Amino acid sequence: MKQFFITATDTDAGKTFASCALIHALTKDKKVAAFKPISAGCELIDGVLINEDAKLLSKFANCEQSITHINPIAFKQPIAPHIAAKKENTQISLTQLTHHFDKVKSLNADITLVEGAGGWRLPLGQSSLDALPQDGNETLNDENKRPAYQFLSDFVKASKLQVILIVNMKLGCLNHALLTYETIKADGVDCIAWIANCAVGESMNNLSENISELELLLPIPKIAQFDYIADIDEEGHEVSFYQKINLAAQHINLAPLLV
Ligand SMILES: Nc1ncnc2c1ncn2[C@@H]1O[C@H](COP(=O)(O)OP(=O)(O)O)[C@@H](O)[C@H]1O
Ligand SMILES: [Mg+2]
Repeated sequence: MKQFFITATDTDAGKTFASCALIHALTKDKKVAAFKPISAGCELIDGVLINEDAKLLSKFANCEQSITHINPIAFKQPIAPHIAAKKENTQISLTQLTHHFDKVKSLNADITLVEGAGGWRLPLGQSSLDALPQDGNETLNDENKRPAYQFLSDFVKASKLQVILIVNMKLGCLNHALLTYETIKADGVDCIAWIANCAVGESMNNLSENISELELLLPIPKIAQFDYIADIDEEGHEVSFYQKINLAAQHINLAPLLV
């Protein structure tokens, strides 16, 4: 039973796109479950908050999960989840995340793919509201005099997930990719592979040189390079999301994930 966590250099970098492609490739001969623990930016349908990422993941995974099983913590507004939680006078806790993840794990899928939110250091909020002192001052962590926060990365560490890093190939990506990789390592989490993704139409200058630099600097295998796949192909035909994912899935080297 393998469990992967998909993180990225930033939001809109292609986490959902790459997650769907990975799931599509893996479901050829494996039972794959999806988990998107936290989302912000949802549509309220019949009283249920439905997130687009969760909907897409549900189309590719093959464990017959409901949208809320895939995405248990959802906020309507497309804002930082812990700020959305605060506005609703609630809090996202590690215990909650672990509890929801246990439900997904109980499916006993061969592979569970977990899509993060934002980048690696996504805040969940202060460790515990209970820990706030009576006078209302924030709980300060002695080391760096900032409130004791929890992050989605703490969940990844506690759950011992293996991380796949999606790098959005644009100017600044070398810095973002290296900082993210180094932080994952410093957190004591296993980052096992990366994917170069072109999430926008205009390809960056010197794309291949930038990819070569990352191949040199990141000591983990690059398992795919996804070109940008436009909505309309060269013959003027519309390309559906499914077709894009089908195309991208053919370019993944799954071997490093299955060892
Ligand atoms: N290689 C690609 N080709 C075409 N469109 C892409 C590609 N990668 C990402 N996109 C599109 O870019 C947008 C942002 O990607 P998404 O996967 O939603 O990012 P994230 O999950 O990291 O926020 C989506 O509309 C997605 O379909
Ligand atoms: Mg996403």
